[in-house]
Order: sequence, then C-alpha cells, then structure tokens
Amino acid sequence: MAIKTRFTELFGVEHPIAQGGMQWVGKAELVSAVANAGALGFLTALTQPTPEALSKEIARTREMTDKPFGVNLTILPAMTPPPYAEYRAAIIESGIKIVETAGYKPQEHVDHAADKVKIPMLASGGIADARGLVAALALGADGVNMGTRFCVTQEAPIPMAFKEQMVANDERQTDLIFRTLHNTARVMRNAVSQEVVQIERAGGAKFEDVAHLVAGTRGRDALAQGDTDGGIWSAGMVQGLIHDIPTVKDLVDGMVAEAEALIRGRLAGMVA
Ligand SMILES: Cc1cc2nc3c(=O)[nH]c(=O)nc-3n(C[C@H](O)[C@H](O)[C@H](O)COP(=O)(O)O)c2cc1C
Repeated sequence: MAIKTRFTELFGVEHPIAQGGMQWVGKAELVSAVANAGALGFLTALTQPTPEALSKEIARTREMTDKPFGVNLTILPAMTPPPYAEYRAAIIESGIKIVETAGYKPQEHVDHAADKVKIPMLASGGIADARGLVAALALGADGVNMGTRFCVTQEAPIPMAFKEQMVANDERQTDLIFRTLHNTARVMRNAVSQEVVQIERAGGAKFEDVAHLVAGTRGRDALAQGDTDGGIWSAGMVQGLIHDIPTVKDLVDGMVAEAEALIRGRLAGMVA
C-alpha cells in the first residue's frame, strides 16, 4: 500500500515526503538516497562553489538514481552574493524540472510560474515522524517537507558528531539568531549561537558585530572539522523528536508504514 496525494501524482514520486534544500547537506549522496527511497530530494545549488560544479553535481546525482529529484536555489542576503542568474541557468540547462526556491525576495525567479500552476501544499517545519505526516495530511497538506530529520540519517554527508549532537539535543537546544536584524534564523544551540544571542541582547547590534561569528565560511570549516561548537548550524526544534540515525530508506519506509497503520488503525477506529 502507499499514500497517494496530489504531490505524489504531480512529481511522480512514491511517497508524500520531500527533503528540503540544506546548505552543505543537500549533495548527491543524500538526494539520491532520498530519491531511491521514493521521496523527493533537493540538491542545494549554493552548496556547490560554482554553477559549473552544480551541473556536475546534478550529473553525479543522475548516476546514483534514475528517480526524480529537484534543485533548491536559496535567495538570501549574503556577505558575497552568488551569481544567482548563472546558477539558475545551470539548473535549466541541466534539464531539471523541479526547482525549490526560498528565502529573500525570490519573486524575480518565481513570479512567472506562480499564477500558472495550482500548487499542492507541503507542510514544512517540525516534522520528523509518521504522526507529523498524518497530522499534516489531516490539516490539508499533500505531503511533508523535512530538513533536520534528513540531516540525521546515515547518508547525510556531514560528520557523525553533528548527527549525534542533534540526537542528544532536545527541542530546547536551539537559538533564534538575527531576530533584532529582522532576519530570524533558528540554529542549533552551541557556543557560537549563544555568543550571537548575547551580542544581540545587549541591544543595538549591527550585522557587522556578529559577522565574524555567523560567516558561512566559518560554519563550513566547523562542519569540515566535525566541530559542533565551531560555527552556526541550522537545526529545528524537531531535533527533540529525533532519537536515531537510520538509513534514508529505513526512515522513509518506517514513516510511511506507520502512517498507514495510524490512518487505518487509530483514525479509522475512531469513526463510529
Ligand atoms: C542544516 C540545514 C540547512 C538548511 N539550509 C537551507 C537552505 O540553504 N535553503 C533553504 O531554502 N532551506 C534550508 N533549510 C531548511 C530546510 O530546507 C527545511 O525547510 C527545514 O529544515 C524544515 O524544517 P525542519 O528542519 O523542522 O524539518 C535548511 C535546514 C537545515 C536543517
């Protein structure tokens, strides 16, 4: 059995589950594992240093799966803005049909599409298990999008120390940074996020005051070194629901099987 929704029909995937774009995580290893497990994975365009590298990563993913996958292009205020138009061209020229965009003013890239399509909705944020999936479907979503949960899988190309830290953390170990700069981000609580929060709490902080702490290059180096206290790292409160480091296939299969059991058992059983 399977759960079919407008999302699975439209994108030609088996399960109503997507893996959202994740900087430094959305690479071929994870995305192909997600695709092979029957869900929809997204490569993260800006994880690749150049548009040419993105084209190569798309080709590498295609060697690892023949199932559908997409590419995320995130538009955010950056210390060094990437050449968005060139990344966009690389995505289109590689024949990618599924594009996720997010962040700051993506209008330029989506305006022409938005009024042409009747879009199925995915619930995103705070979902890590079958209960979340069933709840989202009940609320009217056509599926779910997960980030943090997919980071904590065997195939996610990040050091085990980060995965273990997210398993160890409960829902309280996150911080909201950039609140005072009107660009709020939720990150895993660590030495660096606490320092940022302290600086912001003192009042009147400008981006320059925290730039050295939050620089993407610093986060990337910390990740490369497996140092969970070395830079900021995105993670949701949903880490409180994550207690293991399964393969992507076990995660997706388990979620869908349990969701089916919840719908047929618990929910159907309540209908008199
Ligand atoms: C480590 C990490 C990096 C992320 N990077 C991006 C990104 O570059 N672009 C983006 O649009 N979303 C990014 N996200 C958000 C995810 O795509 C997804 O929407 C979000 O994690 C869903 O919430 P959840 O973590 O509670 O499942 C990131 C999330 C995580 C955990």
